[in-house]
Amino acid sequence: MIQFLLNQQLISEHTLDPNLTVLEYLRRQRGRTGTKEGCASGDCGACTVVVGELQPGADGQPALRYRSLNACLTFVAALHGKQLLSVEDLKHQGELHSVQRAMADCHGSQCGFCTPGFVMSLFALQKNAQGADRNEAEQALAGNLCRCTGYRPILAAAEQACGARLPDQFDAAQASTVARLRSISAAGTPSLDNGQRRCQVPASVAELATLYLANPDARLLAGGTDLALEVTQFHRPLAHLIYLGNVPELKGVTVFDEHLEIGAATPLTDCYAALASEYPDFGHLLQRFASLQIRNQGTLGGNIGNASPIGDSPPLLIALGASVVLRQGARRRTVALEDYFIDYRVTVREPGEFIETVIVPRARAGQAFRAYKLSKRLDDDISAVCAAINLHLEDGVIRQARLAFGGMAAIPKRAAACEAALLGKVFSSAALEAACSALAGDFTPLSDFRASREYRQLAAQNLLRRCHLELTQPTVPTRVTEHG
Ligand code: FES
Ligand code: FES
Repeated sequence: MIQFLLNQQLISEHTLDPNLTVLEYLRRQRGRTGTKEGCASGDCGACTVVVGELQPGADGQPALRYRSLNACLTFVAALHGKQLLSVEDLKHQGELHSVQRAMADCHGSQCGFCTPGFVMSLFALQKNAQGADRNEAEQALAGNLCRCTGYRPILAAAEQACGARLPDQFDAAQASTVARLRSISAAGTPSLDNGQRRCQVPASVAELATLYLANPDARLLAGGTDLALEVTQFHRPLAHLIYLGNVPELKGVTVFDEHLEIGAATPLTDCYAALASEYPDFGHLLQRFASLQIRNQGTLGGNIGNASPIGDSPPLLIALGASVVLRQGARRRTVALEDYFIDYRVTVREPGEFIETVIVPRARAGQAFRAYKLSKRLDDDISAVCAAINLHLEDGVIRQARLAFGGMAAIPKRAAACEAALLGKVFSSAALEAACSALAGDFTPLSDFRASREYRQLAAQNLLRRCHLELTQPTVPTRVTEHG
């Protein structure tokens, strides 16, 4: 059985299809048709809902945190122990919620299809923002598409809603909501099982390790932002799922003197602060990683585990010399991330083995790290090429070079010949051009609908040239804003 709050109503489900998304659940089982399906693939935001989850508060006591998610990519079992809010929950005692009022006042609503998603993104923004901030609002709304170009009034609504935030019914119910969520039991491995398919929700890493070792054919469900597409886009049922999102040991970032330890199921949003403070370019790239809804849901371990050649984080992590701790039952082993990927979607992970932790070295004196993502759109898009360049310079001489690329091969991969061409050299124009020539031999990229082989080759070289400019001519802007 899984249990969650649908607004304030305690819901218990036993036999639902574990492949049912929250979007389908709301619309078909609960008659809440305010939540719309635009794409069923996490691209449009029409299905945005808000999920409240218990997190340790500033005083160490559990507190509620609200986040926007794409309901089309969330399976119902992932709601265990959480509070689900859809657009129907906002109006209270006949009055519009302040974010709905702001949308109406600012003329932000033009069609009924995308508006509920915008409203829910604004609601989550209002819950988390300290005040009206244009950049924060743009980040919060980048995953919501409006096809009639109505963004200006929607951003005005964000300013109104966040500028003078009024207490609402959710604030009034907060203490009781926390208490009710705490009373939902995690014991006995909660699950959904309809006789053909099941999803289990372990509550500790030891329980997960035992469960996965006994069921190595199960699919691990972290954020699900990629895995859910198998159901929603390819109509391939997932017979057995194990959900990682309720395993506390897999969540969170710990900062040590020499490295960061990031739990594999830590949402990308929660990785942001630590990674961005160590490596600002990592932060810029994370802000362009899909949409806020996806980053709230998608995890760092999931982005590695799905072994996509165009995942955004692996090239950066490889260039930084990151490693992963793999766990199989009680056994742990540490693998350098560059050795983790073997072939297209093939990794060294053995049956019943999962990524427990991602270890990222901290920044050091003399280190220059740059990361670039090229995609057709600035926000909410997938890389055609992703480049990460990590150089250690002493007196202008390159003493260490780690360059890794995504979108250039079947796996995210280092550019060995290019690195060799840079080592021991002053980063001069001549050394740069020699490295660019070497880089052409490191990869044989494919042509596909995102980019041609020739574009990828030239773009990779040009990103290295860009890095050279940034490091040698400090007036060149360093923000990752490329798209083309
Ligand atoms: Fe488009 Fe979910 S329906 S993001
Ligand atoms: Fe719905 Fe613009 S308001 S497409």
